[in-house]
Amino acid sequence: PFYMIKEINEVPQIIYNTTNYYSKNKVLENIPKGFWKGISRIKLIACGTSYHACLIGEHLLSEIGYDTTSYIASEFIYSDPIIDKNTLCVFVSQSGETADTLSAINIAKQKGAKTIGITNVLTSTITKICDYILPIKCGAEIAVASTKAYNGQLTVFYILSKYLSNNIKNYKKVLNDLKKLNKIIDIKNIEEQIKPLVKAVLDSNTVFMVGRQTDYVTSLESSLKLKEITYINCQGYASGELKHGTISLVDNNTLVFAYITNKKLANKTINVVKQTQSRGAKLCVVSPFDDILTDTTINYKIKLPSCPEYLYPLIAVLPMQLLSYHTSVTLGYNPDKPRNLAKSITVE
Ligand code: M6R
Repeated sequence: PFYMIKEINEVPQIIYNTTNYYSKNKVLENIPKGFWKGISRIKLIACGTSYHACLIGEHLLSEIGYDTTSYIASEFIYSDPIIDKNTLCVFVSQSGETADTLSAINIAKQKGAKTIGITNVLTSTITKICDYILPIKCGAEIAVASTKAYNGQLTVFYILSKYLSNNIKNYKKVLNDLKKLNKIIDIKNIEEQIKPLVKAVLDSNTVFMVGRQTDYVTSLESSLKLKEITYINCQGYASGELKHGTISLVDNNTLVFAYITNKKLANKTINVVKQTQSRGAKLCVVSPFDDILTDTTINYKIKLPSCPEYLYPLIAVLPMQLLSYHTSVTLGYNPDKPRNLAKSITVE
């Protein structure tokens, strides 16, 4: 009935298609080796959902030892960032036409940076001004709320970071692991799990989405999706930061979603969200871990399918893409065309 649900259903296939395209066409291998030489820092720049993809990219590139920072494009252009010929700037834009991102590219180029664009639209402006383009193979994304493009952008960051790690074994492994997700992700199963939560969302005044590290990024992206198409007040937050002020907002009308896909940090996040529960909040845990989900005091649970732990950001965002969609439709809105918004923002 709407493009948004069609596009969410395409996610498993686009992860496969994007990965297959990179392995078949040797997209990264075809960029001259000299381009990658001497890079001393990496800056990732974008807006909205694409910025959230950068935050995951930042985790992945930092893990392999690159000094990496993400910027919101509209902030980057006024921040006088330190850039030289050894700086790689990666710009992410589904449309390739976002004005703030295009301005940021011009600034980075004037300062002598090496530039890469990650985009879904190969005829767009970004493809004409960056040194190299890394495509995502999503097909047209029509709904204003970006879903499959986000998963495509993450896929490219996974491939890029493993390529730059200069470890051929890890590079081949990520290509294999990504391709297998196609069989692991069951959209219908996740959709069945989130349907009872539509009422819980509608019954609450405030929704928080929390997590740590990459789960925090999933919280940010999930909360953007929910507010964008349902107009419900929702905040994505680092779970450890709630106690520094924001927890005072929590009461009986609060719903908290906790993302727990990092085994080592699981108990840390559980401890924090239990504190919100003791202040009246209802709690929904989104996790693949059975030992976390057996806790009978959790009000709602969403079980993610098992996959290699480092790939969970690709899967953990799906429940909230679906929940946002179903809540929007239940409220009688058109999820494809939220108020006050356009698909690409071509003005500053
Ligand atoms: O086309 P872009 O990726 O450059 O667009 C950036 C943002 O405007 C976009 O991601 C926006 O945040 C989405 N509507 C969110 O769903």
